[in-house]
Amino acid sequence: MWERFPPAGAIRHAKRAMGAACGVRRPQAIVRCCGPRSSELALEESIVIRARLPGDEAWIAEMLTRWWGSPVIHTRGRRHDGRRLAAWIAMLGDRRTGLCTYRIADGECEIVSLNSLEESRGIGTALLRTAETQAARSGCRRICLITSNDNLAALAFYQKRGYRLSALYPGAIDRTRRVKPEIPEIGLGGIPLRDEIELSRTLVPSSADRKDC
Ligand SMILES: CC(C)(COP(=O)(O)OP(=O)(O)OC[C@H]1O[C@@H](n2cnc3c(N)ncnc32)[C@H](O)[C@@H]1OP(=O)(O)O)[C@@H](O)C(=O)NCCC(=O)NCCS
Repeated sequence: MWERFPPAGAIRHAKRAMGAACGVRRPQAIVRCCGPRSSELALEESIVIRARLPGDEAWIAEMLTRWWGSPVIHTRGRRHDGRRLAAWIAMLGDRRTGLCTYRIADGECEIVSLNSLEESRGIGTALLRTAETQAARSGCRRICLITSNDNLAALAFYQKRGYRLSALYPGAIDRTRRVKPEIPEIGLGGIPLRDEIELSRTLVPSSADRKDC
């Protein structure tokens, strides 16, 4: 129904066990898309990414309202009803711990929202990598997203993961505020909330049937 990618199989993300003596580098999420194959992986805990299911709608609406003030999100002048968007959900055990909503059109995947309920555990990265992989399998050549000018942490997060700044929409949030007055004037860190920044990266379309991942 909603899903662009039917939930044929959840995609498992595993974290490398953190050696007590390492201390320097934090463990990174490892994307596992074809089942276990490496003995180097010691499962500290598992993040499973799955497509949304019909029973998720109320939770999605609640989360988008909590995070973004409403289930309706505006990007680049377009209105998205997040309750109807395709979405990936991160599961830790039986807990929903993250949400990525997206839209695919004209060979491009737009991530409309990305949120983690438990930060710095690899959930955001796992959701992002899943969105990229599945968008490429769907034939997309580009993946993009909008963030606001005050969201410095998100700008860092995406750039560290291969995204480039690709467009600036000055005053876009000021314009959205006219139809969504709950958007505050002042954003994160006391920065005036005004503009949209697009980040994107190129994808290499791939076949869903590939078994070499
Ligand atoms: C941006 C956001 C989605 C990131 O989610 P997250 O779950 O914290 O992301 P990750 O855990 O994958 O990565 C965050 C950091 O934790 C680190 N990390 C990952 N696993 C870790 C672990 N097991 N232990 C310690 N740190 C870990 C990552 O290395 C990363 O740091 P880096 O960016 O310096 O490399 C989250 O901060 C969020 O929901 N922000 C609010 C909404 C938002 O701004 N969304 C983006 C705009 S749409």
